[in-house]
Amino acid sequence: MKKYSIALIKGDGIGPEIIDEAVKVLDAVAASEAFDFSYEEFLMGGCAYDLTGDPLPQETIDGAFRSDAVLFGAIGGQKWDNLPREKRPESGLLRFRKELGVFANLRPAVVYDELVNASSLKPSVVQGVDLMVVRELIGGIYFGEPKGREGDRAFNTMVYARYEIERIAHVAFKIAMERDKRVCSVDKANVLDVSQLWREVVEEVAKEYPEVSLSHMYVDNAAMQLIRDPRQFDVILTGNIFGDILSDEASMLSGSIGLLPSASVGNKIGVYEPIHGSAPDIAGQGIANPIATISSASMMLRYALGETKAADRIDAAIKKALSEGYRTKDIADFDAKEICSTNEMGSIIANYAAKCKR
Ligand code: IPM
Ligand code: MG
Repeated sequence: MKKYSIALIKGDGIGPEIIDEAVKVLDAVAASEAFDFSYEEFLMGGCAYDLTGDPLPQETIDGAFRSDAVLFGAIGGQKWDNLPREKRPESGLLRFRKELGVFANLRPAVVYDELVNASSLKPSVVQGVDLMVVRELIGGIYFGEPKGREGDRAFNTMVYARYEIERIAHVAFKIAMERDKRVCSVDKANVLDVSQLWREVVEEVAKEYPEVSLSHMYVDNAAMQLIRDPRQFDVILTGNIFGDILSDEASMLSGSIGLLPSASVGNKIGVYEPIHGSAPDIAGQGIANPIATISSASMMLRYALGETKAADRIDAAIKKALSEGYRTKDIADFDAKEICSTNEMGSIIANYAAKCKR
């Protein structure tokens, strides 16, 4: 029997709770498919700092490289906010992405029919939304040099090299080929030199995908259009910081940031993680929504392991749980049949996933 080795990084806050539910669902599908998982846990973030003095121990990087894929929870929390930057949990995550070379962050935002009322926007605006943010993940202002502080000045540098833009653009166009064949590249080319280069390079790459239609949008306008008429988007291609902001915004179309998964790919090993953070304010209460993480596990099956059928089963199980009226607190409204805990939602989806043949 095929055995996949998965590196689990639970992290801080709600990280452990949501990863446990994703593992439950993975094991449920594995039991009825012809493969199995072995899991190894590694530390990252505040918990890693507390235990080792380093938010990203070398062992975690080595473990990730030994695995077939990384399933990641969330990191960070107020407790570590006053540490020097390189000791902060977020620095561990950024270094991890860089070490793994995962330059492409795929963040789908899909509105489940069952949850059109959960969005803060009108159902008529969000119904049918199905878009994919393709965010460059290991460059741009997050990593640019020089950066630092000099007395009362502080600075970061937004920099992209041609090859970095080329490779992320190829990812976006390839994904568009599998979807509705539309790419909207988001930049700030009316102000930033780096965005001008971005636009030029994206135009060049587009020539290799004549079937895909390319448009450009300034980021401020894109933020507005996402709320005004989100269905106009298919694939949104953008840099690191714009993608960070727009993907949080896009998550609210779906009703809750607790629903959206992501895949970070580009090199040998991919990282699969919910787009939300560690939510220390609700950690340990059993109210976190595990769906974003379960859905990330499905992306892992699909993209890293090629287990499409198993991924389909998880996606169908999530839909089924929602259509049967099960809701965690963040997505509950008047038509909720029952408010579920994190654990209950995980078990319901695991049960359906074990049964769903799709
Ligand atoms: C995300 C997060 C991270 C980011 C933080 C935690 C460093 O917001 O994955 O979107 O900014 O990339
Ligand atoms: Mg973010």
